[in-house]
Amino acid sequence: MAKTTKTIAIANQKGGVGKTTTVVNLAAALSARRRTVLVVDLDPQAHATLGFGLEKQDGISLYPVLAGVKEIADVIQPTKWPNLNVIPSEVDLAGAEIEFGARPDRLTMIKDALKPVKESGAFDYIILDCPPSLGLVMTSALAATDSVLIPTQAEYLAMDGLALITSSIEKLRAGVNPSIELNGIVFTMVNSVARLTQDVVAEVREHFGDKVYETMIPRNVRVSEAPSMGVPVVFLDSRSKGAEAYKAFAWEFMAKNPTRGFMPESAPQESAPQEEVAAVSEEAPVQESEPAVVAEAETPSSL
Ligand SMILES: Nc1ncnc2c1ncn2[C@@H]1O[C@H](COP(=O)(O)OP(=O)(O)O)[C@@H](O)[C@H]1O
Ligand SMILES: [Mg+2]
Repeated sequence: MAKTTKTIAIANQKGGVGKTTTVVNLAAALSARRRTVLVVDLDPQAHATLGFGLEKQDGISLYPVLAGVKEIADVIQPTKWPNLNVIPSEVDLAGAEIEFGARPDRLTMIKDALKPVKESGAFDYIILDCPPSLGLVMTSALAATDSVLIPTQAEYLAMDGLALITSSIEKLRAGVNPSIELNGIVFTMVNSVARLTQDVVAEVREHFGDKVYETMIPRNVRVSEAPSMGVPVVFLDSRSKGAEAYKAFAWEFMAKNPTRGFMPESAPQESAPQEEVAAVSEEAPVQESEPAVVAEAETPSSL
């Protein structure tokens, strides 16, 4: 089936808001729905790389591609899960800010590097995990993307943070990336009973309307444990609250960002007695008492 490749940058200048966790689990949940995904880890801390169980390796990142010494195809790494590929990060990427800062093509360097992959049509989604700063790498990532997904916590001053990143998007639109769009805002690490949370969510929804995803990701200990095992929580413990939320979020994301004639009306019903869809790793515990998880017809045949 013909598909278009969509590039999505997951960005917020603030650290610790759930960017990497969202990248890893959105990508994993999309891949379990047979969407082909390439994650590009642009943070020198390489947490997304480690979150997929990959190791940091010298020379395996976007850095040598930006430096013009490697082809992009040489740095794309498969993961142990089908449809899920990663361009890892390494510490060299930290030097890119300074090293490439004087290049005339510095703002389009990531776009140019990704072009052959995008044009190949090999992937439904290219997901960029941005570093927590408004530096050159993040700006160049925003110049390369079709849209920007902003994870945020529902806390005091959330609107200020959102205003800063959305104004960066506006600047990019007025300059190097005229077609950039705000993909949406997703609330992470939500404590839904807190009064402050409810107030912040209401305020952000009032301001950003349907750009705010319906699905909110709860704070859940399994989500924070998964990175140390190198397995996305949607595979590690697919029935945990965090995994359920990321799977629902991925479904909403697919409906809003179709790459091949996705039909939202085929969305699964919460009550439908269907089988688990997500790929489950060997480590996944069996939780008989939990309710069955919603699924769709496109369960990968390899599962
Ligand atoms: N829904 C969640 N529940 C519990 N812990 C979370 C959740 N989302 C993220 N975390 C934890 O919060 C920390 C910061 O998340 P991370 O995704 O690395 O943020 P960022 O990439 O924005 O810096 C990590 O330790 C992560 O495991
Ligand atoms: Mg991160």
